[in-house]
Amino acid sequence: MKTENSKGSILVVDDEKEMCDLLVDMLTSVGYDVEGVNSSTDALELFRHGDFDLVISDLRMRDIDGMELLKIIKDERPDVPVIIITAFGSIDGAIEAMKAGAYYFVTKPFKLREMEALVAKTFEQRMLVKENLRLRKEVQEHHNRRRIIGRSKAIREVYRLVDLVSDSSSNVLILGDSGTGKELVAREVHFGGRRSHGPFIPLNCSAIPEGLLESELFGHTRGAFTGAHQARKGLFVEASGGSLFLDEIGDMGLALQAKLLRVLQDGVVRPIGSSKTISVDTRIIAATHRDLKALVKKGAFREDLYYRLSVIPIRLPSLAERVDDIPMLADHFLQKYAQRTGRPTKRLTAKALDALQKRPWEGNVRELENIIERLVVLTPSEVIDVGDLPWMSVEETPECMWPTGSELLPLKEIERRYIEHVLSESGGNKEKASRILGINRRTLYRIKDRWKNAKES
Ligand SMILES: Nc1ncnc2c1ncn2[C@@H]1O[C@H](COP(=O)(O)OP(=O)(O)OP(=O)(O)O)[C@@H](O)[C@H]1O
Ligand SMILES: [Mg+2]
Repeated sequence: MKTENSKGSILVVDDEKEMCDLLVDMLTSVGYDVEGVNSSTDALELFRHGDFDLVISDLRMRDIDGMELLKIIKDERPDVPVIIITAFGSIDGAIEAMKAGAYYFVTKPFKLREMEALVAKTFEQRMLVKENLRLRKEVQEHHNRRRIIGRSKAIREVYRLVDLVSDSSSNVLILGDSGTGKELVAREVHFGGRRSHGPFIPLNCSAIPEGLLESELFGHTRGAFTGAHQARKGLFVEASGGSLFLDEIGDMGLALQAKLLRVLQDGVVRPIGSSKTISVDTRIIAATHRDLKALVKKGAFREDLYYRLSVIPIRLPSLAERVDDIPMLADHFLQKYAQRTGRPTKRLTAKALDALQKRPWEGNVRELENIIERLVVLTPSEVIDVGDLPWMSVEETPECMWPTGSELLPLKEIERRYIEHVLSESGGNKEKASRILGINRRTLYRIKDRWKNAKES
């Protein structure tokens, strides 16, 4: 029905044959694919079997009346616009038609040019709506795919960089403290891009002794060294066409760094014990929680390798830099562990959330995840309150514990009691206590001396 290069397909319904033909001719001449019918029963039949972009229908017809037809169409295909025309133009009819979902209402007689303009406008607007829908769907899909949670400015910059690099083959260096999501981002870089059909192979450089790491990476021939009973391809070759994730690259020794650099420069690997080289097309995604630049300065990391790897560096923010994301992350982990444990999803009270947002989170997202997991398992009720947070039972003095009425205390006394409490909670460790109290140790001694003197005098 719809021919190529057509501007779109239109169904025209008018029981007045002349009128119908006139519209069909005019719209066909300006490039639309048009079908004209003289009864609404035929129109409905055709409509249900065709794929029309627009219906133009007369209002008063003998069989099914135009209003009825409009309602059926809107019911079955609400996305298809309908222009209603009638010789009996009345405000009531117009209002009723618009209420029923008509796109436009036109009264006869009308100029053909006016109708042409109206149809063009309808198509234009429809295109915009469709484009919007498509974009929204795309964004939605994109969002669903993304497993990195967060909307803060800091994490949005990470998304931007991930999108920028995932479709390229440049090496990527991911920097960030422990638990900030480096591995998660590495997977996103790989699976979100062109190389997603190739393999993603992770290797933790700090977990394997240097000698073994070399054969892991580059492979070896059979008998290349004692214990090499079988030839091994090596991860560089296995990851060819995909990505090799070198985690904790900062822990790699200098000798191996030199070998890695050579492979990156030449694009070929030579397995240990072999005289032949193998070409590889492996993208390196490297990560480290260490300060690589400082390692370079110290001479512990090769500068040339650093520049090869960090073509595009992505620095992950610490959780403290994006406290705005804590509610979303907490929610995500609450759901994750509820699903895993087969229990209903628990909820955090506003106070509990507030307390979460005030934590320093040295262990970043991983620490938050661990705490939420613990809360899901250990909190008996569906609602997790501030008192359920593991550190709160010690640190927070519930408001109801404050003395009241005639027992109200001077600030100095509160200070003394609280300092003693912190000291006892820190096991008498003054260094730790002063850190928690946010005062230096000497001040703590001074205050203690003051109490002693007060007691003695
Ligand atoms: N933005 C995030 N959204 C959802 N989950 C996250 C996010 N960041 C981290 N996580 C989760 O936190 C945990 C730790 O993340 P990951 O292992 O990627 O951290 P890392 O930076 O590699 O840590 P390390 O340096 O200790 O290896 C994982 O379970 C991961 O799924
Ligand atoms: Mg990691």
